[in-house]
Amino acid sequence: MTDKEALRVSKIENGTVIDHISAGQALNVLAILGIDGFGEDVVSIGMNVPSDRLGRKDVVKVEGRELSQSELDVLSLIAPAATINIIRDFDVVDKHRVERPESVTGVLRCPNHNCITTEAEPVDSEFDVVSDGVRCEYCGTIIREDIAAHILV
Ligand code: CTP
Ligand code: ZN
Repeated sequence: MTDKEALRVSKIENGTVIDHISAGQALNVLAILGIDGFGEDVVSIGMNVPSDRLGRKDVVKVEGRELSQSELDVLSLIAPAATINIIRDFDVVDKHRVERPESVTGVLRCPNHNCITTEAEPVDSEFDVVSDGVRCEYCGTIIREDIAAHILV
């Protein structure tokens, strides 16, 4: 971490730092975490922070909370280079990269209105992660761009 960044977003005592987010994706990361500004979460956001590895990056720090596996799975789709840092008593006690899952269940809405997963009957959506996006298991529709816009809330 550079001194410049230290001045931008201060360290946290406990929680999760999502670092090396693709620049421009911070608000989508908040959406994935269900953070809309009306909850109790204490959140710090850095956007377009200079980064050696990425040129520019976004950073999201969520205090007092760790992420679920399904949150991490969707995160990996929009921020494949993200690093998850678990912070306890100001120390980084765990650091790992997000991993691209084989599939994601119940987190994305199929854009096909005739798809069984979008009808009244509750069928969990399931998308396979493919090279050019994610593909609906039920109707084959592929979401290639702006995956974040299809996140179920
Ligand atoms: N961080 C934080 N609060 C802490 C400790 C770390 O907000 N108490 C943040 C840092 O600002 C940084 C990230 O967590 O964005 C990872 O911290 P650290 O591993 O110390 O930084 P780097 O070595 O630069 O990480 P990397 O090698 O992953 O780039
Ligand atoms: Zn579908």
